[in-house]
Amino acid sequence: MSDGFSFTLEASDGPARLGVIETPRGKIRTPAFMPVGTAGTVKAMPPDNVRATGADIVLGNTYHLMLRPGAERVAALGGLHKFMNWPHAILTDSGGFQVMSLAKLRKLTEEGVAFQSHIDGAPHMLTPERSIEIQCLLGADIQMQLDECPAIPIAHGAARESMLLSVRWAERSRRAFEEKAAPGQALFGIVQGANYDDLRRESLARLLELDFPGYAVGGLAVGEGRAEMFRVLEIVAPEMPAGRPRYLMGVGKPADIVGAVARGMDMFDCVAPTRSGRHGQAWTRRGPINIKNAAFADDPEPLDPSLDCPASRDYSKAYLHHLFRAGEYLGPMLLTWHNLAYYQALMAGMRAAIAAGRFGAFVARFREETGETIL
Ligand code: GUN
Repeated sequence: MSDGFSFTLEASDGPARLGVIETPRGKIRTPAFMPVGTAGTVKAMPPDNVRATGADIVLGNTYHLMLRPGAERVAALGGLHKFMNWPHAILTDSGGFQVMSLAKLRKLTEEGVAFQSHIDGAPHMLTPERSIEIQCLLGADIQMQLDECPAIPIAHGAARESMLLSVRWAERSRRAFEEKAAPGQALFGIVQGANYDDLRRESLARLLELDFPGYAVGGLAVGEGRAEMFRVLEIVAPEMPAGRPRYLMGVGKPADIVGAVARGMDMFDCVAPTRSGRHGQAWTRRGPINIKNAAFADDPEPLDPSLDCPASRDYSKAYLHHLFRAGEYLGPMLLTWHNLAYYQALMAGMRAAIAAGRFGAFVARFREETGETIL
C-alpha cells in the first residue's frame, strides 16, 4: 500500500519533532507548512515561486476540483501535478469539510453527503469511496479519509455519533484506497471528537486499528480558541504513534503552528498567509501588519530584507502600500509571496532549532518578538 512512502523521525526536542516524509514526488521536511492550492493553484502564485519559498508540498481540494474542472478531466489531462505544473508532493483534503462550509442544501447520511454545488447548484454525492476515487484521479500523493467535522460547542452524544461516523467512513475510505491507489500514495486517518478528551482518545484508538501511514487531527480551529486547541493536542499527540506523521488540519496562524509543533505536530495547512496577503495583511517577525495602513505610505524599508524572497526584500512598504491603495494586482501577489516566504522561514527555523536541541529558546524568542502570550 505505502511502498515509496515513509516517515523518518530524525530528532526530537521535548515533544517537538524533526522528520522527513519520503514520497515518489520527493521529500517533505517536517515540521512542514503546506500552502493551500484549493482549485489547482496557490492563489496569485506561480508554482516555481511557491517552491522557491521552501514548500515541499501543497494542498488541493477534492470538493473544488470535483466541481470544476472535474476529476475525470484532470485525470485525462495527466493528473493534478501536471495540470497545475507542480511536480512535487500534493496532499488533497477529502471534501467533507468543504461541503459543510461551502455547499448548499447539504444532507448527511451514513452513505455520505449529498449537496448542491456552490457554483451552479448542480446536485452531487460525496461518499468515502467517491472521495478516494477523486483523490486517485487527481493523483494525490497523500489522501485524506472522508470525515465529518462538527462545530464546537457540540453536545457529547452528538459529538460521539459524529466521531463514530467518521471512523466508519475511515474504514470505507481505507478499503477504497486499497483498491484504487497507486504505489507510493498514502491515506491518512482523521481524529475527530470535538473537545472531549474521551472521544479524542476513542477516535484515535479506533483509527490505530486501521493502521494508517499517517494521522491527522481534524475538528480544531472551529471556534474553540487557541488555548482549548492546545489542550486537545496535549491529550491526543502523546498517544499518536511516534513513527507516523501527524497533521493538524487547517491550522493556522504562526503562533498556532509554533504552539502545535511544541506539542508534537508535524504538518500544517492554512489559508492565512495567502488569503490575508491578498487582503493586505503581511506577517512579520514582529507580528502581522496591514500594509494599507497610512503609517506605511512613506516607509522606505522592505518587509524583511533577511528573507531570501524578492517580495520581502526588494520592494518598500511604501510601494506595497501604494499597490494596495491603487488596487493593483501586483500588491496581492507580492504580499502572498512574502507571507509564504515568512511561513516557510518560520518552519525552517523550527526545524533547525529542533535539530540543534534549542527549540525552547526558539519559542522564547518567538514569544518575545511577536508578543504572543498563548504558546
Ligand atoms: N480542514 C480543517 N479541519 C478539517 C477537518 O476536521 N476535516 C477535514 N477533512 N479537513 C479539515
